[in-house]
Amino acid sequence: MHPVSDLPYEQRPSNRDLSHMRGEYGWPFVGKTLEMLRDPQALFGHFYQEYGPVSRISITGNKCVLLLHPDYAQRVLMDREKNFSIKMGWASVMADFFQGGLVMRDYEEHRIHRGIMQSSFKPPAMRMYAKKIQVIVDETVERWAAQDSVLFYDEIKRLLLDIAFDVFCWVDETERNLPKISKAFVDMMEGALGIVRLDVPGFDYHRGLEGRRFLKRFFMDLIEKKRASNDEDVFAHFCKERNEDGEYYADEDIADHMVFLMLAAHDTTTSASTMAAYHLAHDTELQSDLAAEVGEWPDELSFETVFHQTNGLIRVFYETIRLHPPVPIFLRRTIRECEIGGVRIPADTMVCVPGNYIHRLPDWWREPDRFDPYRFSDEVAEHKKHNFMWIPFGGGAHKCIGMHFARMLFLLTFRQVLSKYRIEYAKPGYYPAKLQHFPFTRPLDSLPIRLVAC
Ligand code: HEM
Repeated sequence: MHPVSDLPYEQRPSNRDLSHMRGEYGWPFVGKTLEMLRDPQALFGHFYQEYGPVSRISITGNKCVLLLHPDYAQRVLMDREKNFSIKMGWASVMADFFQGGLVMRDYEEHRIHRGIMQSSFKPPAMRMYAKKIQVIVDETVERWAAQDSVLFYDEIKRLLLDIAFDVFCWVDETERNLPKISKAFVDMMEGALGIVRLDVPGFDYHRGLEGRRFLKRFFMDLIEKKRASNDEDVFAHFCKERNEDGEYYADEDIADHMVFLMLAAHDTTTSASTMAAYHLAHDTELQSDLAAEVGEWPDELSFETVFHQTNGLIRVFYETIRLHPPVPIFLRRTIRECEIGGVRIPADTMVCVPGNYIHRLPDWWREPDRFDPYRFSDEVAEHKKHNFMWIPFGGGAHKCIGMHFARMLFLLTFRQVLSKYRIEYAKPGYYPAKLQHFPFTRPLDSLPIRLVAC
């Protein structure tokens, strides 16, 4: 029999012996997970104060090394020495849910699969998306404004899922069944957080797996039709692509990519837009400044105009995803022993870089808990003190493939809202609202707002 250390890294168990490090694990089984779900800033802040930038913690059922410094975020995300597996990192929590997605593939395999998706995010494709998005957004904002109040989170989620279908997976309205698909995505993400990980009816985890099974079937059932179509969306592109042996990619692979892509595309942008609306409704002066700014933009925004935009609205986007990064933590597992900050990290050890706390490190950010878009202005440029102190889109080989798309979506949506309306809370005395932090940040009550004509 081979010793464990001779096995490929994917087949080795995680190392759970971090006794040489400072830190604490918390309760048996759950460790510090519940504290993280309740108040991640308080938890990571406590570790930073007590144990410094490298410590041990137990979260999500894993004994992890917690890294709280931009230098260490850079080491892990850039991974120049090929020490860290993203696949084994995310698999520890999301294996059943992210299966086959880009974040579940390491190195060469990842490079090939990412290459297939890349052309869908190049300027010609983005120009086409900008036009489509503008039409849907314009119609939807008018519908919101015609109502007394709307639950912003629910509405924007529906809108962004609709947009994701229009641009990445065009299917006829009758085939979309958006409410069912949206529920399947919600179930999937809630299931991924389920503490009891049993595929048995009654448990969140089971509901999550059912959601994923439904989504996978949905995409698999469409593959033949897409191959025969003249469609030019990402899904059609994946279906028609052939590997080096001239064969189509496996249907399973294609469906896995689509489930992950659609999730990554709409849930992250939903959270960012909701939290931006939440902060904007609190600051009417900022809204007036932005209204004046967007009033000067041309009626039809090209991808290029949006791409080169660096003014107020883009700073609001950056500040929102600093305070509330839609991907709050990065998970990796070491492939071999390495050293970070003078501390030895054994092979097969889980590593957690909480972007949500790196974004609020008191030694790097002034008044870190305050919403202040101006910190991203050219004059202040606080985020430029270190390339990895602001990492909402990650970094290195797995850096978000949809980041320009997300930025464009945000600008097109809020340009349309702010050019005609003011965002107001629908309830007096609303701020500060109770927030949910995982899987994505949002006000617990879905942010009731009204759009008031200006
Ligand atoms: C505000 C919006 C978004 C944020 C903050 C965000 C953030 C991220 C982050 C942090 C990662 C890297 C995860 C890691 O290294 O572990 C990532 C990866 C990814 N994102 Fe995004 N994302 C956003 C929107 C989008 C959109 C709109 C799409 C698709 C259109 C998308 C598709 C992806 C994909 C496919 C990956 C995997 C890339 C790879 O592994 O090569 N994301 N995203």
